[in-house]
Amino acid sequence: MSTSSGIPVSIRPMVDDDLKQALQIEMQSYPQPWSLANFESELKNPITRALVLTDDETDSIVVGYIIYWVQAEGISLLNVAVDPKWRGFGFGMKLMQAMIKEAVQEDLPRIILEVRASNTGAIELYQSIGFIVTHERKRFYADGETALVMEIKTSDATGMIQ
Ligand SMILES: CC(C)(COP(=O)(O)OP(=O)(O)OC[C@H]1O[C@@H](n2cnc3c(N)ncnc32)[C@H](O)[C@@H]1OP(=O)(O)O)[C@@H](O)C(=O)NCCC(=O)NCCS
Repeated sequence: MSTSSGIPVSIRPMVDDDLKQALQIEMQSYPQPWSLANFESELKNPITRALVLTDDETDSIVVGYIIYWVQAEGISLLNVAVDPKWRGFGFGMKLMQAMIKEAVQEDLPRIILEVRASNTGAIELYQSIGFIVTHERKRFYADGETALVMEIKTSDATGMIQ
């Protein structure tokens, strides 16, 4: 798999050895980042999928990750982040495509997510896939910011993985 960066990359399940780099990316990505304990707890959760995007040469540089829950009613996206050094090269989209592929393969009806109303970059990414805002959750985040709840029917997202 290659992106506009020209660097060959692949996506695989996150393992404990990835956590240090994931935490570094997390701290640079969010005003209220997940703790190490948050990552560890999701890695142990049977409904959680945690994937990392790494360089093919060493398979040890974590460029980004995506973490989501898989349930019969659909996928819930919990976290997607790309190293600030590597944003704008299509890696976030690749991670989203891996999640969409699982929704298609597992015949799950929809994908839902929450995003800060001010996070225009992420909102653009989701809208470019076809996610739509279904409603808002006022004061959803601890600092009082509103969350936009976005959703896509899996059948509307299949074009993203072909
Ligand atoms: C959101 C995030 C994962 C996007 O990762 P990325 O690798 O930079 O995204 P991509 O390069 O794959 O972008 C794909 C598309 O998304 C949109 N997009 C992504 N970032 C954007 C930005 N900052 N501004 C506008 N559009 C953006 C564009 O449509 C882009 O397509 P284009 O490059 O052809 O215009 C990354 O910015 C990030 O880690 N942000 C911090 C964490 C975060 O906010 N996560 C979402 C939480 S809900």
